[in-house]
Amino acid sequence: MSEEPDRTTRRFLTPPVRQVHAHLRERMETLGMAVRVDAAGNLRGVWQPANAAGKRLLTGSHIDTVPDAGAYDGVLGVVLALEWVELARESKAPYAVEVIAFSEEEGVRFGVPFLGSRAVAGRFDTSLLTLKDGDGRSLEDVLRGFDLDPQQMSEAEVKDDAIGFVEVHIEQGPVLEAEELSVAAVTGVVGQSRLALEFAGQANHAGTTPMKLRHDALAGAAEWIGAVERLALQTDGLVATVGKIAASPNAGNVIAGTARLTLDVRHAHDAIRLGSVEELIESANGIAARRGLAVQSTKSLDQPAVSMDERLTAFLTESIVAEGHPGKQMFSGAGHDAMVMAARVPTAMLFLRSPGGVSHNPAETVRIEDAEAALHVGRRFLERLAAEFR
Ligand code: GLV
Ligand code: MN
Ligand code: MN
Repeated sequence: MSEEPDRTTRRFLTPPVRQVHAHLRERMETLGMAVRVDAAGNLRGVWQPANAAGKRLLTGSHIDTVPDAGAYDGVLGVVLALEWVELARESKAPYAVEVIAFSEEEGVRFGVPFLGSRAVAGRFDTSLLTLKDGDGRSLEDVLRGFDLDPQQMSEAEVKDDAIGFVEVHIEQGPVLEAEELSVAAVTGVVGQSRLALEFAGQANHAGTTPMKLRHDALAGAAEWIGAVERLALQTDGLVATVGKIAASPNAGNVIAGTARLTLDVRHAHDAIRLGSVEELIESANGIAARRGLAVQSTKSLDQPAVSMDERLTAFLTESIVAEGHPGKQMFSGAGHDAMVMAARVPTAMLFLRSPGGVSHNPAETVRIEDAEAALHVGRRFLERLAAEFR
């Protein structure tokens, strides 16, 4: 279910998303769930027991992917959520369970992440509708093309019957593997900044223009990328990435007239992240001034670091320990829908070990015994939650 034949690439509301929805809908309906797609394109299934105390637990993750993705980032949390519904049914849980397959978390198509969870958390700013994708299509147009009504976005927001949101996800890093652990409870998620930068100079002939008389946008960008890496290496806990670059006119014998780049900066402390972003913008300005270039930066994301809910995280940790695992707790360096949901409802996350610490890569995988551990922990967690109603 991919936009490309030999790789997994599934951006927000592209045609293969319809296939994913059809597949998940069938599984949800087999479990007796009521299924709908909300105005943000999130597929949502509700399992409603006869003995429901008027409350519902939300769980799930995202079904969009990065280009050339692995099979588990996001999707695992949706598939395991359906298994949790079976467990809730078996244990006659006294609350409803809603599984959400979020439409957009990665931010690949429109450069802005969490479009699906923003709507569910009641934080979808309608100014987002004018965002354009790489083909110049607006977010509003893409939603309408998927038979959705952007004017109805507020209907996607969670209601007051929500107990909380729990997301199961792969760790996407090397920590659990290094400690030989299957699972961990997440205590918080680092804050993220995302920016787009453009260095502009003068396209010119690669043979006739002496080095000292050039305004090479790509060389300026390259100098700045080095500065980004140096700052992150020197700052404890900071990660900073230039993952995308486009030079124009992009020809071997033409000095680049423009270079467009992205910057992704993350840290557990917002003040350090924001200070680092400012320092990197100043560094870009300095490099541009010295080289006779212009530089412009546009911020597309300033997502603060978020703590998970203490009570739900304690329930998860107790459940991990009850299953015979060490009660490992850790911070997440990756962004997650959980960090957006946490602003609206009590939220917790369960991580599974990522073999090789690899993610955002087709080599991403999970161990079957870790998925099994997540199911056992889930059963304990659902029972612990049920005890609150007795
Ligand atoms: C999402 O996977 C992110 O952390 O960028
Ligand atoms: Mn991801
Ligand atoms: Mn993810």
